[in-house]
Amino acid sequence: MLNDIEKVYYSEEKLKSIVDGLGRQISDDYKGKNLLLVSVLKGSVIFMADLMRAITIPCAIDFMCVSSYSNKTESSGVVKIIKDLDINLEGYDVLIVEDILDSGKTLSYIRKLLLGRNPNSIKICTLLDKPERRAVDDIWADYSGAEVPDEFVVGYGLDYDEKYRNLPYIGVLKRSIYEK
Ligand code: IMP
Ligand code: MG
Repeated sequence: MLNDIEKVYYSEEKLKSIVDGLGRQISDDYKGKNLLLVSVLKGSVIFMADLMRAITIPCAIDFMCVSSYSNKTESSGVVKIIKDLDINLEGYDVLIVEDILDSGKTLSYIRKLLLGRNPNSIKICTLLDKPERRAVDDIWADYSGAEVPDEFVVGYGLDYDEKYRNLPYIGVLKRSIYEK
């Protein structure tokens, strides 16, 4: 598995300081609000687990699982809900927690869907942002851990063909893996 990684972008230590910083900022901004973290599975699972522990104010959590019909490295924007939220969003300040904002199609769909359920507010927190790749103009990251260039990255929850999620760092996948 380690041989498939071209280079490490964000080490475990670096990720910890990025996530701790986001946690501090969110804790300040949401003081006195009714924070609900919505994790988009599966890619955000590790980020969510670390981020929620870096948040020092009360918060609720929930999970949704979507699949965007896609090939293995690009999403189509046609989103299918595999698991919906359990919590009724009314009265909550929703913060969607995502692994990576790429074309933005997946989040654009999810955001519209959740807005229709009357939350107090809705914002987006993504660990990684690939701004060069944005294909929709109604999505931006309110909180973003780090920008990455247009390269396919894996680890810390992010997969290629369901593999590499368990790498503790974020690295660039060798092209030979997905171009073969
Ligand atoms: P979007 O709809 O194009 O923004 O795609 C978002 C989803 O595509 C993310 O939640 C990831 O699951 C996946 N994705 C996009 N870029 C990468 C990447 O570089 N590595 C792993 N997954 C990615
Ligand atoms: Mg994925």
